[in-house]
Amino acid sequence: MSHHPNAPGSGPESGPESGADPGAEAPNLDFAGTTPYEDYVQADVLTHLQHPLSDDPGEMVFLVTTQVMELWFTVIVHEWQTAAEALRQDDLPVAMAALKRSTYELESLNASWKPLAHLTPAQFNSYRSALGEGSGFQSAMYRRLEFLLGEKSASMLVPHRGAPRVHAELEKALTEPSLYDEVIRLLARRGYGIPDAVLDRDPSLRHEPSPDVERAWQKVYSGEQSDALVQLGEALTEVAELVWRWRNDHLVATRRAMGSKTGTGGSAGVAWLEKRAQKHVFPELWTARSHV
Ligand code: HEM
Repeated sequence: MSHHPNAPGSGPESGPESGADPGAEAPNLDFAGTTPYEDYVQADVLTHLQHPLSDDPGEMVFLVTTQVMELWFTVIVHEWQTAAEALRQDDLPVAMAALKRSTYELESLNASWKPLAHLTPAQFNSYRSALGEGSGFQSAMYRRLEFLLGEKSASMLVPHRGAPRVHAELEKALTEPSLYDEVIRLLARRGYGIPDAVLDRDPSLRHEPSPDVERAWQKVYSGEQSDALVQLGEALTEVAELVWRWRNDHLVATRRAMGSKTGTGGSAGVAWLEKRAQKHVFPELWTARSHV
């Protein structure tokens, strides 16, 4: 346990002098430059990136929640890239560890809806107009997350034409095999009868549900439940469910905050989000269950 150097009565060794003369167990106070904490975390940078556009006191938590979610997207993209690379090398333990971490991160991501889940339309209106045409629809990290799930779409690059680095990263993510592509290739290498037409598909196109992939999962799930591939299927199902929960929590928060008004990004709003939230992530993992 760490003791705050100036906290009164924080331990038996802390006397009245402990603030001025920290005892042997107190933390260091002297650093020539910025603290090593700052050098690692860059908290000073991170906590000065909040620039609300209105005077409304409720805008701060809207902005920070959005930034927090962007950070979680970044971590989750990192985990799924790790998992995809590990699967490519037939390293299931490393892939499973990354997927497992990502499910805990998705839980944290989803928990961060709390502060925005109960906005009234009047509260949201207090800063909504300041957002202009800004919308989460324009989140590049969210697109990378979707691309890794197999939900590819070249048109989602269009909003980012003006940002070369973001555009290049997204383009790479579009053309690379997705996490789900790597899973399907693994199933093929393990003899689950995936046809070449599925394996050789253009990876920049959206994954379309395939009866052959569904049959592969059906076979996997009909086998020994302790099998590594059942475990992989379950970890992916967990990911799919948690992504679906994020989309639904977003949908409900939006419905509460703005009813059926059009979105700042120009969509029909809730009606558009409803359609997006209906899609199943890793569709064959869900449909195969009917046949086991
Ligand atoms: C309660 C506050 C929020 C409301 C009312 C809201 C509303 C909307 C609406 C109406 C859309 C559809 C596109 C449009 O026309 O703008 C949208 C899309 C989106 N929003 Fe939000 N949003 C909220 C909070 C957030 C937060 C905190 C994030 C975190 C980054 C976020 C991320 C997204 C993403 C990624 C999309 C695109 C979804 C897709 O492509 O399927 N939203 N939002």
